[in-house]
Amino acid sequence: MHTLSVQTPSHQYPIFIGQNLFAQADELLQPYLTKKTAIITNETIAPLYLKSFQTALDKLGIAHFSIILPDGEEHKNWQTLNLIFDGLMQNRAERKTTLIALGGGVIGDMVGFAAATYQRGAPFIQVPTTLLSQVDSSVGGKTAINHPWVKT
Ligand SMILES: NC(=O)c1ccc[n+]([C@@H]2O[C@H](COP(=O)([O-])OP(=O)(O)OC[C@H]3O[C@@H](n4cnc5c(N)ncnc54)[C@H](O)[C@@H]3O)[C@@H](O)[C@H]2O)c1
Repeated sequence: MHTLSVQTPSHQYPIFIGQNLFAQADELLQPYLTKKTAIITNETIAPLYLKSFQTALDKLGIAHFSIILPDGEEHKNWQTLNLIFDGLMQNRAERKTTLIALGGGVIGDMVGFAAATYQRGAPFIQVPTTLLSQVDSSVGGKTAINHPWVKT
């Protein structure tokens, strides 16, 4: 496994690169998790990887809940963003609840945008599951959703 350290003007965060890192999710995530965690993913990815994340958080004794969104670029919009906020509020997420984006670039963009705005900013971890999201959209901290007239 390779670890890169990214230094921003105010923060520092790691990027872990390697094969089958899901198997080490508990030990890799532990230093960065708060008391409560929201795993946000979509209906395609949930059957593949959600259980292993839930098991890792159970192992660490971290309270968690999951929000499963519809799959597709056409859902990268305000309506789906509001589903994230609905799920966070229904589960009494606080400002210190960590949001994990488990998925490709669409999930990463939406969850990043939600984390930047929920209660003025919540901790955020990206678990990119497509090549594009691993090498591009999860890096650099830019996130956005689409407007009905424009794709961002
Ligand atoms: N923020 C940025 O800097 C940035 C940069 C580049 C792209 N993007 C955005 O990223 C999005 C495209 O990302 P993408 O190509 O990852 O598309 P995506 O997130 O739509 O994923 C593509 C498909 O693969 C599925 N999938 C994801 N992981 C999987 C896995 N491991 N196994 C099986 N299926 C899986 C998804 O459910 C989806 O159906 C666009 O919305 C684009 O605007 C953002």
